[in-house]
Amino acid sequence: MTSSQHTTKPLLKAVIPAAGLGTRFLPATKANPKEMLPLVDKPAIQYVVEEAASAGLTDILMITGRNKRALEDHFDRNYELESLLAKKGDTAKLALVDASSNLGQVHYARQGDPKGLGHAVLCAAAHVGDEPFAVLLGDDLIDPRDPLLTRMIEVRERFGGTVVALTPVPADRSHLYGCAAVEPTDAGEDVLRLTELVEKPAPGTAPSSLAVIGRYVLDPAVFDVLRETAPGAGGEIQLTDALNTLAANGEPVHGVVFDGRRYDTGDRADYLKATVRLAAEREDLGPEFRDWLRKFVANELTD
Ligand code: G1P
Repeated sequence: MTSSQHTTKPLLKAVIPAAGLGTRFLPATKANPKEMLPLVDKPAIQYVVEEAASAGLTDILMITGRNKRALEDHFDRNYELESLLAKKGDTAKLALVDASSNLGQVHYARQGDPKGLGHAVLCAAAHVGDEPFAVLLGDDLIDPRDPLLTRMIEVRERFGGTVVALTPVPADRSHLYGCAAVEPTDAGEDVLRLTELVEKPAPGTAPSSLAVIGRYVLDPAVFDVLRETAPGAGGEIQLTDALNTLAANGEPVHGVVFDGRRYDTGDRADYLKATVRLAAEREDLGPEFRDWLRKFVANELTD
């Protein structure tokens, strides 16, 4: 079946790969999933599930592995805590506890061997079936005020096939991403057609300055291609390589250039920056925190 035959099916399912070991955050991730590390007071993974839900994707499949039980507990009810808070009449905290168990239907599949992002996506094949679906990578947080996924779904409705999110990166950072060769389209300046994708190009060889960031709208045709995709960069089965095959076969592969707010939480320095930005913008904590931060940076703190 070609991708164009799928265009009328609504997008309802989101896949969130969450099997990584999080070694960059050891020892915090020795017994806890990295996805549960909080940004201010909300686990990173909840921002991602909220993003999917607000784009209308309420069937969520998490690809997990060993040590990830906390994820299942977080998106489930906690009756003991709920009844305790209800008895105390603490409706504000009760609402916070309720929120994460009401974001949609969250399902889980295990990725026994971490063999790469392409392999993680392939673990979703049985659950997704013959429908288009989104993939959201937890290391990229997209600010809810800049709804990227909604725009990508619109582009998928227009062209069918695959839609990825792109952002310009400096040349010395291209080797950290999948990078794309692009052509313009008539669908708006932010929508490009992808002619080639290269995962983690060697320095100086990226086809453009545009890198793939962690949001994808995929056609189920990707599963057959992934089954045939040999390990690529880092010895892993790469989603980028499968998308490159689709583009080479003449299937529609488009990119939406995102210029909104994105918070990278993949390494410690970026995670700290994301935490500070989110805290500084919070209505409740922000004013006091910004004031403290200003003094801290100016070295004017006395306590
Ligand atoms: C993955 C993808 C890569 C993409 C990146 C976005 O890489 O393989 O193509 O550009 O996510 O964050 P990873 O960051 O898992 O190495």
